[in-house]
Order: sequence, then C-alpha cells, then structure tokens
Amino acid sequence: MILLGIETSCDETAAALLVDGTVRSNIIYSQIAKHAPYGGVVPEIASRDHVKKLPGIMEEALHEANCAFDQLDAIAVTYGPGLASSLLIGYSAARALSQRLNIPLTGVHHHEGHIYSVFLGENPPVLDGAFPMMVLLVSGGDTKLVYMKAPGRYEIIGQTIDDAAGEALDKGALLLGLGYPGGPVIQRTAEGGNPRAVRFPRGLDNVGGEWKYDFDRKLCFSFSGVKTALLYHVQNHPETLHDETAKRDLIASYQEAVADALAVRVERALEQYACASFACAGGVSLNKVLREKLGRLSEKCGVPLKLSSPKLCTDNAAMIAGAAYIKWAAGHPFVTPEDVNPNLKLANWDNT
Ligand code: KG4
Repeated sequence: MILLGIETSCDETAAALLVDGTVRSNIIYSQIAKHAPYGGVVPEIASRDHVKKLPGIMEEALHEANCAFDQLDAIAVTYGPGLASSLLIGYSAARALSQRLNIPLTGVHHHEGHIYSVFLGENPPVLDGAFPMMVLLVSGGDTKLVYMKAPGRYEIIGQTIDDAAGEALDKGALLLGLGYPGGPVIQRTAEGGNPRAVRFPRGLDNVGGEWKYDFDRKLCFSFSGVKTALLYHVQNHPETLHDETAKRDLIASYQEAVADALAVRVERALEQYACASFACAGGVSLNKVLREKLGRLSEKCGVPLKLSSPKLCTDNAAMIAGAAYIKWAAGHPFVTPEDVNPNLKLANWDNT
C-alpha cells in the first residue's frame, strides 16, 4: 500500500509517503517565520502560503521516496480539526489528485495522526501489546487525556478547561519577550536554570469551588493560572528580566510547572486505568523536561512509555498517512469526507 499523506491544518505544509506503513519520506515546510512577527498564526497568511508551497512539497515527498504519482494507491488528508481556510487547501488538493489519479481518498482526524505517530518509523507499525493505552495529547491547541481500550476506541477522560499546554508556553514566551513559538525557545533558554526558583501553580490544585465539567477534576488541566502567575511575577519583580540567571531560573520554573501539571495527571490516570502502555503525542511532547518526567513515571509504575521520534511530534503528514494506514489495515475501508470540518470530534472507528 503506497499512501501519500497531506497535512495543512495549521501552519505546517506537509506531505509524506508511506509504503506498507513504513515512513519513506516526511517533508515539512514550517511557516513559523511568516507568523512570528504577529506572535501567533494568522489564518489568511497560512492558507495563502499552503497554496504556494503544497505542490512543491508533495513532489518533494514523492521524489525523496523514489515514487511517481501513478504508483500511488491512495491519499490520506487531514480534514479537521484546524483552521478552515488551511484545511481546505490540503483537502482540495488531495481531492483533485485522487480524482485525477482515480485512487481512493481518505480523511484523517488530526489528533488520530498525533496518536498513531508513536507507532511510526522505519518499520511497519506494531500495535500488539500496546492496548489498553493512555494517551496524553499535548499540542498548541489541545491538551487531553485519551484512554484507548483498543485501536480506534477513544474515551476522553480529561482535558484542559482553558488554555492548552502549548498555548501556555507560547503565551508565556511572548510575555517574556522570547518570541514565537514558545515551547522550543522556553526549552532552550531554561537550559541550566533552577526549576524550583519560583513556585508556579499546577492548575486546579484547589479542591474547592464549583465544578461544571463532565470529567474527573483530578484528570483535567488548567493553564490560565500559571500564565497569570507569570505575568504578576514579572510585574512585581521587573528586575528579573535584566538578570540573566534570575531570568533563566524563572523560565525553568515556568517550564517545570507546565511539565509537572501534565505528568501529575498522567500518573493519576495510570492509577485509575489499567494500561499496557502510555503515550505522549503532539508538539509539546518534544519537550525534554516533559519526556524525562514521563520516562521516570514509566519506570516508577512499570508501564512502558511510547514517544514519537522528534520529526513526528510536531505537525507532519507521515502521521496522517500512518493513522490512515493503521485504520485501513485493521479492516476499515477508506472513506472520503464530504468536506473539511474545523471542529471535527474524535470518533470511534466503529461509528465512522
Ligand atoms: O502539534 P503541534 O505542532 O501543532 C498543533 O497542532 O498545535 O504543536 C505546536 C506546539 C506549540 O505550542 C509549540 O510551542 C509546542 O508545540 N512545542 C514545544 C516544543 N516544540 C514545540 N513545547 C515544548 N517544548 C518543545 N520543545
């Protein structure tokens, strides 16, 4: 099965080629430099750039994998969630190409891509023995705990009630004048800093107060408090920003709070749900401190941890083709979506 993956849900234009589930090429063009002056993604700029770059990126993906368009068996494209105008570019290109080549097109939920990225690489994906699996999905727009009894069975057991973890890092970095995106620059500038210098809140620590969500409070996340605490700290101690050591300690403490808030919830989830493995996926899963914390947790509780290789953590098309392949290999035929859906919900394979 030679599968072309296409991903344009936000600010990465990506195409990848998978042969029988093995990643043969994974080309990613990041628009970060175009959005950086605005401190976040500008949808209009994103979609225009996808239009310009996607044809060349697809050709590069095929070229690197030594494959011609007429050798493709199928195409997989992200059709949600994401920015409507960005999703439409990838979807339209994929649809046109599938009609031109007369091959099937299948739609993939962006989060499914992230989830199954932990099984992808130079060898065909092996899912046996990994389920039930707990997944911490952490990206710029999402922070969720997903319990998966089996492949294609999703139960969201906790999620953020405000900002996503990546958003907290991005906004924190902007506040400190470090630039965009925040995750990588925070990780870099925190290097060598004291993560215990400033005690930041870990979100939802206080037991009191009204709770209006359907999820267990202990498995939910909140990152608006840590962001506000950072703002107040900077307002009350403006000198911190002019002292390199104090600034590094502050950034390390902020990163520690975000990573700790995530790891603590994963630990609670693993206590409540019997799992054969747990995984962390999405852009924030690249974070070194978070990876170390989850690694220690894996040793402590004896549950194997699955992480994607760095090039599969942030948005990419190999994960989109990978999710499509895994679902197809499990016996679910390709289904062409009618349209993109910016608010697409994760659905169990049995219901789709
Ligand atoms: O999954 P992703 O590429 O895009 C979304 O679908 O949102 O995630 C992007 C997020 C951004 O918030 C970025 O700051 C964060 O991933 N990120 C990191 C690191 N690299 C990227 N966060 C922490 N540490 C990193 N090294």
